[in-house]
Amino acid sequence: MVSERANRTTPFAAMDVLERANRMDDVIHLEVGEPDFETPTAATEAAIAALRAGETGYTSSKGKPELRRAIAAYYDRRYGVDVDPERIIVTSGSSPALLLAFSALVDPGDEVVLTDPHYACYPNFVRQTGGRIATVPLSADDGFRPRVSAFERVLSPETEALLVNSPANPTGAVLDGDTLGELVELADRAGATVISDEVYHGLTYEGEDHTVLEYTDDAFVLDGFSKRFSMTGWRLGWMVAPPDYVDHVNRIAQNTLICAPNFVQSAGVAALESGDDFLAGVRDTYRERRDFLVDAVEDWGMSMGYTPGGAYYLLADVSDLPGDAFDAADFFLEEAGVAMTPGPDFGSNAENCLRVSYANSAEKLAEASDRIQRALTTVETPALD
Ligand SMILES: Cc1ncc(COP(=O)(O)O)c(C=O)c1O
Repeated sequence: MVSERANRTTPFAAMDVLERANRMDDVIHLEVGEPDFETPTAATEAAIAALRAGETGYTSSKGKPELRRAIAAYYDRRYGVDVDPERIIVTSGSSPALLLAFSALVDPGDEVVLTDPHYACYPNFVRQTGGRIATVPLSADDGFRPRVSAFERVLSPETEALLVNSPANPTGAVLDGDTLGELVELADRAGATVISDEVYHGLTYEGEDHTVLEYTDDAFVLDGFSKRFSMTGWRLGWMVAPPDYVDHVNRIAQNTLICAPNFVQSAGVAALESGDDFLAGVRDTYRERRDFLVDAVEDWGMSMGYTPGGAYYLLADVSDLPGDAFDAADFFLEEAGVAMTPGPDFGSNAENCLRVSYANSAEKLAEASDRIQRALTTVETPALD
């Protein structure tokens, strides 16, 4: 019989929209969180060299020592934080690292606090471990940045973990260092552990990235190569675990994942060691696209009410259009050939929104904007009647 856990796992709407859009001709993709840049050449060359050198066997379950050292050096360089490479566990993307963190922390019935909106997959990770979800509401009026007082109201003696994500998917909101530090103190007082998803670090246009490791060692950090180095399909990420959890996480990783691909780990070393210029270039490009899109969304008659500071998403409010967010997504896909993700997937506070991704070229964004305006002014559809 299919397990209750499997039954309760919901589909990932962005992937559903993508699959539907892929069956259609001439669609502009603003639904997926996938960078449109090529992987840095140094990483590709390093992978090819590693394959030629026969680096195709298993590695240590924690990952190659040289990659863990390169990750530790990155924390030192970027944040001035000293991280023992022994606390770093390399994974096939940050998604398995999320599963490892929840597996190591959460017992059935434990409470996990998420913000709402949140990354669509988080609730399903919590469900895999039998945890209960509590949410901290965010609003566009605050730029979708969580307030410490809002977490304070939600945290309870049953809270095992609270998850923060900055820059955030789907809002693009960036958490400032003081707030992150205060959340760490709050979690400490409540006996809860902070899980910090830092996968969009590096793609920040307003404010600065702060790793939770600047404030504590007793937090889980999840990070990876997918977003900042345009390496989604390489499947490479990492976790920094609190000292007391390293062995437990590693035991789960040894049994369930064995290790991340050997030659891909060599590509990771090259990306970290030579990727700063690449990252600076893509960051400037994303910033320009964001500025274009923020104005365009207003022209489409949707309201935003905030400026996203990072990642490559924004939430556009479609309450002024007839129908709900699913109707709006259908309308723009069918009538304009522009794919965007309905907000409800990201929580009830994104219910009236579409998530728009600007991980697409300036030309495509301009074309998408023209098509959307044309559809809004010329097409009459049942969905929008
Ligand atoms: C907030 C967030 N965390 C984690 C992931 C997973 O990324 P990956 O497994 O490719 O590292 C994503 C992907 O979209 C994301 O948006």
